[in-house]
Amino acid sequence: MIRETVRLALYQPDIAQNTGTLARLGACLGVPMDLIEPAGFDISDRNFKRAGMDYADRAIIERHISFEAFNEWRKANGHRLILGETDGATRYTDFVFQPGDILLMGRESAGVPSSVYEACEASVHIPQVDGTRSLNVALAAAMLVGEALRQVS
Ligand SMILES: C[S@@+](CC[C@H](N)C(=O)[O-])C[C@H]1O[C@@H](n2cnc3c(N)ncnc32)[C@H](O)[C@@H]1O
Repeated sequence: MIRETVRLALYQPDIAQNTGTLARLGACLGVPMDLIEPAGFDISDRNFKRAGMDYADRAIIERHISFEAFNEWRKANGHRLILGETDGATRYTDFVFQPGDILLMGRESAGVPSSVYEACEASVHIPQVDGTRSLNVALAAAMLVGEALRQVS
């Protein structure tokens, strides 16, 4: 049974299937999702619906028209913002997550700009084998959400 939870935010996602997959993850694990627009697709996209299946209808998805609007909203509601990025400062298993944390994932094509990086309270990385560039965003998000929930729930 899930008692406490975290949130998952996607920064201007490009690929409908990844967002649909994560909507399904959020629906199943009780993790609300914040979609920071503009996105490279609309959530009426059939690829989003196909990846999210019927679970997407059960997902709690808050849409934010810009990063600035999202950032104001999360600060006003007392959420810490924790960026997942390949060069994040702390190994994700060494980071102490708190209930209410928002895990922010970057755009598939470009991650996040430095201004977004700087707005975050902390950043974490999943260690990779030398010479590999990055994980798929949905898989990276699933690993971070799994670790955060293990700690807080
Ligand atoms: C395809 S990656 C973007 C890669 C790279 N930052 C870039 O600009 O090309 C998309 C997102 O997945 C997440 N991600 C991928 N690999 C990760 C890792 N090893 N640790 C933490 N997050 C990761 C990050 O949120 C990243 O912004």
